[in-house]
Amino acid sequence: MNYGADRPAVLKYDPFKAIIVPRPIGWIGTMNADGVPNLAPYSFFTMHGTRPHMISFTSEGDKHSVVNARDRAEFTFSLVTEDLAQAMNATSAPLPDGADEFAAAGLTRGHSIEIAAPFVAESPAALECVTLSTTQLRDRNGCLTGSYLVLGEVVRTHIKDAFIQNGRFDTVKARPIARMGYRDYATVTDAWELMRPSD
Ligand SMILES: Cc1cc2nc3c(=O)[nH]c(=O)nc-3n(C[C@H](O)[C@H](O)[C@H](O)COP(=O)(O)O)c2cc1C
Repeated sequence: MNYGADRPAVLKYDPFKAIIVPRPIGWIGTMNADGVPNLAPYSFFTMHGTRPHMISFTSEGDKHSVVNARDRAEFTFSLVTEDLAQAMNATSAPLPDGADEFAAAGLTRGHSIEIAAPFVAESPAALECVTLSTTQLRDRNGCLTGSYLVLGEVVRTHIKDAFIQNGRFDTVKARPIARMGYRDYATVTDAWELMRPSD
């Protein structure tokens, strides 16, 4: 099977998100113009460099996280783990602007050091970011799409001491979850090592 713009009828749902897997979930903390915190998950999320550390998330629509990250030029990332899955999912509810998803999901606000937006205190790791750009993406014809890409530079990293083993962040101990297609998720439960030819 192969197809272009038109998906064959046998594919009931678009498999795009089931093919680009597993996707880390950017749990994005922001603050609105009135200083009310906002929290939402974004699986269109990745990293872009290590000098400096840069990360991004993409919103389908000009959602609160985009508006806040643009207006206040900052956002946080919190790592979503298995034990936080239900809370993460709760924060995806389309609450009105000014509703505090931290409170709604029973989560504790972690206090950032460099910026005002909070992170999820229960998460093993979190990043404070300064927004570098917010871009409404264009398609190949130059037409504006409904997707908004937010790029940020990491200015402070938080890690709970219990997750540092032998000088490394113990990812498996954290049991991060990842988004797949449809309503499916995956959990990181083990890791294996592969040295590079140049090592
Ligand atoms: C696991 C998960 C991943 C999500 N990823 C995205 C995403 O990448 N882009 C997006 O626009 N919405 C995504 N959503 C939906 C948003 O979280 C949802 O629309 C939320 O209400 C946005 O909140 P905000 O307006 O406060 O930013 C995701 C939802 C879940 C549960």
